[in-house]
Amino acid sequence: MTNSEKLVHILKLFSLRNMPIYGHFYRVSEMSKIIAQGMGIKDPHKLKIIKDATFFHDIGKIFVPDKILLKKSSLNFEEYEIAKKHVEMGIDIVSTFLQNPEITQIIGQHHEAYDGSGYPAGLSGDKICIGAKICHIADSFDVVYGGRCYCAASNFEQAIAKINDCSETQYDPDIIKVFNKCSDHINKQLYTYLDNY
Ligand SMILES: [Fe+2]
Ligand SMILES: [Fe+2]
Repeated sequence: MTNSEKLVHILKLFSLRNMPIYGHFYRVSEMSKIIAQGMGIKDPHKLKIIKDATFFHDIGKIFVPDKILLKKSSLNFEEYEIAKKHVEMGIDIVSTFLQNPEITQIIGQHHEAYDGSGYPAGLSGDKICIGAKICHIADSFDVVYGGRCYCAASNFEQAIAKINDCSETQYDPDIIKVFNKCSDHINKQLYTYLDNY
């Protein structure tokens, strides 16, 4: 078994605790690849880095306790601080297995925001790598569209509008334009069969 296969196995075990999460990883990864291709990225190596990193983006949530991970209401300050640590924990896990700095960089920055209001480092604009900026959009869209135990699902148009509302604050506006252009393709490719949820 390769180290990458071991990580996938760990994620499958994790999904026994949190059923929707494996489908979430799959869709975020596929969506990120579609957006990257829409941005003109053709290099197969770069596309694979983005696809692999985004697949493992939330692997650190393995160490977030169920009472926080599966809470049906908003997290309080202390709970949110614990949940945020999934980023550093994800870097620890993935760097142990893959030793690929480009992958760990994307995982480490996937909650950074374009305006600097994200975490863990408060990076802004072009200080955030492209893969992480793409991942942030794909990750948020999948949560907003599909809903979670703490937030209701939206329909497709509402979900697109909610993501666009955060262009220039949470998300890079240039990547949002590409995301909008790819949105029909993303819908057909990833959300036709809602069994994936
Ligand atoms: Fe995350
Ligand atoms: Fe996620």
